[in-house]
Amino acid sequence: MQLVPEYREDLERVERFNLVARVTHWGHTVTFLLCLFTGLVLFVDGADWLAAIFGGYGGAGLIHRIAAVFLTLFIAFFVIFDFKGIIDWVKDLLRFGKNDIIFVMKFPLEFLGFPVKMPPQTRFNGGEKGNSMVTPTMVILLVISGYIMWFPSIFPAGLVRVAYPTHDIAMVFATLMVCMHGYLGSFHPGSGESFWGMWKGTVRKDWAQHHHAIWYEETYGNKAEEEEA
Ligand code: HEM
Ligand code: HEM
Repeated sequence: MQLVPEYREDLERVERFNLVARVTHWGHTVTFLLCLFTGLVLFVDGADWLAAIFGGYGGAGLIHRIAAVFLTLFIAFFVIFDFKGIIDWVKDLLRFGKNDIIFVMKFPLEFLGFPVKMPPQTRFNGGEKGNSMVTPTMVILLVISGYIMWFPSIFPAGLVRVAYPTHDIAMVFATLMVCMHGYLGSFHPGSGESFWGMWKGTVRKDWAQHHHAIWYEETYGNKAEEEEA
């Protein structure tokens, strides 16, 4: 059984994510999952077996804090080394429009395996735009509330009280998003090529033309060539 499509070096490929974006993404994946599992030890009752994996409740708390610091450092790394990439990302999100709404509405059918014709998409499709808005927002809320919980003595008591439910709610939403997103960015038939974009940096040219027609045309197509000339 093949879970992700084969990486085809014999076919023409185009760059999708630069090294900084990829290091940030996978750094966040590892630190997010570590925070999640160590956080669940504290969140759910009777998670002794999960705590044991991290050397007990004290160990889980320590790993949670270490992973949290690295998660924060990956955000700083992204901002320092690819600020332009973040601005371009936000600009793409601001293009959310009719084609994205149609994409999101038709997506459940595509997900269930029905043949669906999607309208052309920009760099991120409607669903990815949604993920780009919700998940980073939840992660930022986790970071802010997390540090308030970590150092309660330097923050007003009211803020510390709000931080706990904020951390929990953001954790639930972020986890739901990451579950869907992790599947769609890897094993889901048809979108698996995007995994190589995030892993090796490039995707097949024909896949890019089909899944992100507007982005392809603007970045590598005739329009891009005309602008360069
Ligand atoms: C910079 C990022 C983060 C910081 C500074 C942080 C900090 C903290 C702190 C100080 C606690 C309390 C620990 C204790 O009582 O020993 C905590 C609990 C928790 N954290 Fe985080 N955290 C961060 C990110 C995350 C992430 C990404 C997740 C999940 C995806 C998460 C999930 C949890 C959960 C579920 C709890 C237990 C909350 C409860 O008992 O109600 N945290 N975190
Ligand atoms: C669980 C394993 C994960 C896999 C297999 C995965 C896979 C991917 C892939 C393939 C892309 C590129 C999609 C494209 O071509 O546009 C991507 C983008 C992205 N990932 Fe992940 N990812 C994972 C975990 C995470 C986690 C833990 C976070 C955040 C906490 C995250 C946040 C994002 C964001 C914000 C984007 C850009 C928007 C999007 O394309 O949806 N990912 N991911």
